[in-house]
Formats: sequence, C-alpha cells, structure tokens
Amino acid sequence: MRTQVGIVGAGPAGLLLSHLLHLEGIESVVIEARSRAEIESTIRAGVLEQGTVDLLVEVGVGERMRREGAVHRGINLRFSGETHRIDLHELTGGKAITVYAQHEVIKDLVAARIATGGALLFEVSEVTLHDVETRTPRIRFRHEGGQREIACDFIAGCDGFHGVCRSAIPQDRRTDYQHVYPFGWFGILAEAPRSTEELIYTRHERGFALVSTRSPELQRLYFQCDPRDDEDRWSDERIWEEFRARLEGKDGFRLAEGPIVQKGIVAMRSFVIDPMRHGRLFLAGDAAHIVPPTGAKGMNLAVADVRVLSRALAVFFTSGRTDLLDRYSSTCLRRVWLAERFSRWMTAMTHLDETSDAFSNRLQLAELEYVTSSRAAAVSLAENYVGLPMA
Ligand code: PHB
Repeated sequence: MRTQVGIVGAGPAGLLLSHLLHLEGIESVVIEARSRAEIESTIRAGVLEQGTVDLLVEVGVGERMRREGAVHRGINLRFSGETHRIDLHELTGGKAITVYAQHEVIKDLVAARIATGGALLFEVSEVTLHDVETRTPRIRFRHEGGQREIACDFIAGCDGFHGVCRSAIPQDRRTDYQHVYPFGWFGILAEAPRSTEELIYTRHERGFALVSTRSPELQRLYFQCDPRDDEDRWSDERIWEEFRARLEGKDGFRLAEGPIVQKGIVAMRSFVIDPMRHGRLFLAGDAAHIVPPTGAKGMNLAVADVRVLSRALAVFFTSGRTDLLDRYSSTCLRRVWLAERFSRWMTAMTHLDETSDAFSNRLQLAELEYVTSSRAAAVSLAENYVGLPMA
C-alpha cells in the first residue's frame, strides 16, 4: 500500500488529521489496534474548548456536536462549603466550552472519513515503524491475518501514551519531561438527572471532586483517590457517600443520585516529549504529551497539534517548503507547556496532598479565594479554560 501520510491511531488526533488532510487533497491511511466498536464506545474526556468547537464546525464535522453538545458559559469552584461561579463567557469576551464526549467526536470523525472514502484499518497488530529518517518511511503491521506494509512520505504517530510511535525517536535525540501525581481520579457514569447546570470543581478536606455531565439523563463525576486503589472495593453506596461528603455542605447543595453504570480509576501524570518530531515521523496528541485531567485540555491539545500539522503538510505538498514542518514541534510545544502549566495549577489548587503541611493547605484556600474574588485572576483562569488562541 502507498499513501502520502500513514497515520497510526484512530483517536481524535489521527482521525481529525486524516479528515483535515483530505480537505487539503492529501491522501492518508489510518491504522488502529482496537475495533471500531471499541473506539466508538470508550468513555474518555468531554470538554471542548471554544477553538476546538469552532474548528470542528468549520471543517464540517460539528453538526451533531452543535445539536447534542451542551454549551457551558461558566464553571464553578467549590471550597469551604460554598460555590463560586467563574463566568467564562463574560470574562473572555463571549467564549464558552462545550461538553460533548470524546467518543462522540470519534463517531462523527469516523463517519466523515468513511463518507469520503477514507482508508481506516481497525484491529491491526504488531505495528513497527521503519526508515523514519529517510524520505520513504514505512509502517509494517498485521491485519486480517496477513503481513501488510504502508509506504508513505510522512508518518503521524497518533497512537496515544502507550503507543509504539514515540519509541521510534531515539533516546539520545529527545528529552522526556515527566511528573507523576500521587493521586488518581475515580470516575463514574451515573443514570441520574443533573445536579448542576455547570461543572463543579471542588476542593475538600477529603480530597478533590468534580461534577460533570454527559446528557440530561447521564452524569459524569470524579473524586480524587489513591491511584493504586481498586474500583471493585467501592460499592455504589460507598461511592455516593464519598461524593456526598465532599460535595454537600452548609449551603444546601444536594447531589442527584442514581444507578452507577460505569466506574474506573485513572492515574494522573504530566508528560512532554521534546521534540515531537524525528525525521519524517511527527507525534501528535497523547503520544507526545499527557496533562492531568483537571484542566480539561487533553483532547483539545490533540486537536491543536493536528491543526498545525495538517497546515504544515499542506504547504509542503503544494510548494515543497519545509519551514512549517520544521517549526511543528516548537509551535505545538508552546501551547503544550501552557496547558501543562494550567493543568498543574488547577490540580495543585484543588487536590489534597497528604504530604503537604498545614501552611500549604491554607495557601490552597488563599489561591481559591483570590481566583474567585479578583477579576484579573478569574480572567486568567477563564482564558485558559476556554482555550488560549490557536497558533
Ligand atoms: C469530563 O466530563 O469527563 C471532564 C470534565 C472536566 C474535566 C475532566 C473531565 O476537567
């Protein structure tokens, strides 16, 4: 098989890249280890920045998101038993976020690729990259029982944090930056009505909690936990008890409860590889960087990467110019580090760190007090949360 861009991974980065390239008249093939059913049903993130929403609409894959996604013009910070609203819309001159699940974005992108004849191969295995330092890189893998090879001009590594592409960048040509947080998030999906119109990020002496949503009937909630904890040790009753303890307070806020239809623990880490490119291999999304979920930036960074990459490839294929490709890594990393900073700040402000002293705990409250009482501080949170301008 021969194509212009071989794309490893059918997550938001790989699928959107394939779609953007198609709009530029550039051919690609996407290969994915999981099945279509699996990628279309795995529960992941759900917050889309304003720029992500605008891009999806602009490139023709935003119709269902516009209909079914929930536009939120604010978020809430809750601490000391009281809720404080951050008016994202007013503080950013009219921007907002949209809550629309990542697997719904994936469904829309898969449908768009299939409608325009895009090549998507699911359930591939034994993926290896070859000759990425030459002009003729190749991807080898197994598919439907046979050995296959894609010869291409470029490879996009969009196969996530646990994928194989990152390891094709030799250790002595890259720097890995990593921070592992001493906590995880226990996430649930519950069949219950909404408890709140807008997301609630809570700091509590028992630890962080977050109330998010998926639809009027399905709610997404998280609480900070030990990353080594086992979700099976948590009965539904015990889970709701923990949420009530962290969220309900003297102001009378009550959680709407219901059957828990899914639960799981995610570890929290920050990770960045520099550079995001080696020869003709370009990494995008989680393959290159991970943010803790507190800033709601993960999927948005993936979208920002492939926007930069698709433009750089389009310029290369029409004019032979390589300057945008040469700047790909530094352009993306600027945004990535700003998102790392914001995500770590949101995490530090709201999570209980058992190793910190009473002084640090009091400072956490001062930080929350400041961001909910100073317009300048609130603007800073808001402009980051809705998304800094795209490159
Ligand atoms: C989610 O709805 O899954 C969600 C929302 C906000 C976050 C992280 C996850 O910061």
